[in-house]
Amino acid sequence: MANQIPNITLHDGLTIPKVGFGTYRLNGNDGVQAINNAIDNGYRLIDTAYNYENEGTIGEAVRRSSTPREQLLITSKLPGRYHHYDKAVTTIQESLYRANLDYYDLYLIHWPNPIQDVYVEAWQALIDAKRWGYIRSIGVCNFLPNHLERLKKETGVLPTINQIELHPFFNQEEQRKWHQDHQIVTESWSPLARTNDVLDHPVLQEIAKNHNRTVSQIILRWHYQLDAIAIPKSATPSRQLENISIFDFELSNEEMSIINQLSKADGRMKDQDPAVYEEF
Ligand SMILES: NC(=O)c1ccc[n+]([C@@H]2O[C@H](COP(=O)([O-])OP(=O)(O)OC[C@H]3O[C@@H](n4cnc5c(N)ncnc54)[C@H](OP(=O)(O)O)[C@@H]3O)[C@@H](O)[C@H]2O)c1
Repeated sequence: MANQIPNITLHDGLTIPKVGFGTYRLNGNDGVQAINNAIDNGYRLIDTAYNYENEGTIGEAVRRSSTPREQLLITSKLPGRYHHYDKAVTTIQESLYRANLDYYDLYLIHWPNPIQDVYVEAWQALIDAKRWGYIRSIGVCNFLPNHLERLKKETGVLPTINQIELHPFFNQEEQRKWHQDHQIVTESWSPLARTNDVLDHPVLQEIAKNHNRTVSQIILRWHYQLDAIAIPKSATPSRQLENISIFDFELSNEEMSIINQLSKADGRMKDQDPAVYEEF
């Protein structure tokens, strides 16, 4: 019996699960098997990107799955080197061909690349691709409030989702508040901070012990209570299940606040500040 993940409705009307599945480094046949396991375990929202070079793997997993395509929500992302309008349109088509899908449920701009400064053109391409039926909902990743303001000013359309680095060491409090004020849903990438140090943290271990849960479950429950969609990646079926077995307990306000206090201004894993960092 598949785990039931609660849903949320985006500002354009698309309803998606409040926990998804990350697929960075899940490639080839092993990747297909890991993704099929995740779907069997109850995941429905699957996150990929043109740059992960596994859109084909995702498409194959969708075809091999006994869960119908219409029940799955597939996200991909536009790389920084294709922000110019014509290139963006062709890349979205190429993304679809790679996965052999007729549409993506979500398509996001992967990084704003503000020095290159072509993200408004890329956004216009996503707006049009949605109109043409290639994509059901459009969003971004790693956009700061000033980048989002610019999209609104120049196109009149705000993203449904902003996928950002978010974990206990970098809780993005101000950015989340900005999203909330503008009906943008926050999605958390590297929600477990790639497990670097985080699983051994004594504060998290203490909370986990009190709830008789794992540290990963405490962190993912924290995301859920922040109203952020976590997309943990795991190639391991038992961990996949562990990571969505979080809907039958609750963290107290005090515990939420203790976890929030672990956040640091320089808590990004690799110092990828979207104001200056660019990815192509
Ligand atoms: N938009 C962006 O710029 C951006 C950037 C980075 C990532 N992302 C997306 O976010 C997704 C998630 O982030 P991520 O893959 O970087 O890191 P993550 O999900 O925070 O961590 C993944 C790591 O944690 C391990 N793990 C997962 N569950 C565990 C558990 N219950 N116990 C112990 N270890 C566990 C996994 O190991 P095993 O696989 O061996 O189980 C893997 O090594 C990516 O896959 C990608 O889809 C987006």
